Amino acid sequence: MAKAVKTIGVLTSGGDAPGMNAAIRAVVRSAINKGLKVKGIMRGYAGLLEEEIVDMESTSVSDTINRGGTILYTARCKEFTTPEGQQRGAEICRKHGIDGMVVIGGDGSFRGAGKLSALGINTIGLPGTIDLDIACTDYTIGFDTAVNTAMEAIDKIRDTSTSHERCSIVEVMGRNAGYIALWCGIANGAEDILLPERYDGDEQALINRIIENRKRGKKHNIIINAEGIGHSGSMAKRIEAATGIETRATILGHMQRGGTPTCKDRVYASIMGAKATELLVEGKSNRLVAYKNGEFVDFDIQEALNMTKDISEEQFNIAKLLVR
Ligand code: ADP
Ligand code: F6P
Repeated sequence: MAKAVKTIGVLTSGGDAPGMNAAIRAVVRSAINKGLKVKGIMRGYAGLLEEEIVDMESTSVSDTINRGGTILYTARCKEFTTPEGQQRGAEICRKHGIDGMVVIGGDGSFRGAGKLSALGINTIGLPGTIDLDIACTDYTIGFDTAVNTAMEAIDKIRDTSTSHERCSIVEVMGRNAGYIALWCGIANGAEDILLPERYDGDEQALINRIIENRKRGKKHNIIINAEGIGHSGSMAKRIEAATGIETRATILGHMQRGGTPTCKDRVYASIMGAKATELLVEGKSNRLVAYKNGEFVDFDIQEALNMTKDISEEQFNIAKLLVR
């Protein structure tokens, strides 16, 4: 039976992502406009267990849609992965009158959201991660901004790499997921893309391609290396030694997670935030908002977590096809 909610909480958890503020703003304002009370939980599940809970008004989210990061801060919390921690979290929600919750984060955060839901707090997840690695959705809050940030940085590296006729290894974020690397590979016209999902570790083949490219007259050689493969500095040294071509490594790092969200991230995050409130108002729980095949939809959290996602073979092949 659908349970009507009166007071909802909102938290951000795991790695931050540009557009999270737009999502928080949408949750807060859509809920207030539907007659609900809203509480902000600071620092994810860690803040929930510390009872860092603040009342949110419409003005609490003024001047935030254009800001990167998350105004609620974010954290990782080991205690919440235990049944005792989850039980305590649900009790704290009840103590503060919170009967609905919106969790903005990645897969780990959704596992926590599923637990809260099972403990009687109606909980909805919103996909917030720059990695685009949530299987049920074609869009995650923050990917668009992060990939544009990385692309612009790589364009700059390309200028200097061409001028010096060097080889450049650019390491982008993505410990387990190569989407930022793949999209930059296409958008920056990189000569090689090393993805955690695909790289077979054959460095000699990589070196052979660099030598071949130079023979064909290529002035630069941009290799996008995903964080999950890493070791860009030592790889650069080995490539320089084997090819005789000056090689430099640049690790873009956390700059990819910050900055002003793009229009797409602001708009999609706003739509997803409003949809989360709508689901709670309908009495729904244990749902994850997603964007699939051009539509905003929602999935059961456990079903969503059981789905798997791989790099698009089509996109990977196109990247390779267009490089020569
Ligand atoms: P992300 O949400 O970006 O995948 P993490 O994997 O670090 O990030 O998860 C964020 C937080 O979600 C963790 O610090 C923990 O508090 C909570 N979490 C992760 N896995 C579980 C789990 N199996 N059960 C309950 N909570 C979890
Ligand atoms: O999940 C987002 C992400 O930025 C990954 O791309 C990266 O591997 C990880 O977070 C880095 O986490 P941290 O900021 O804790 O080093």
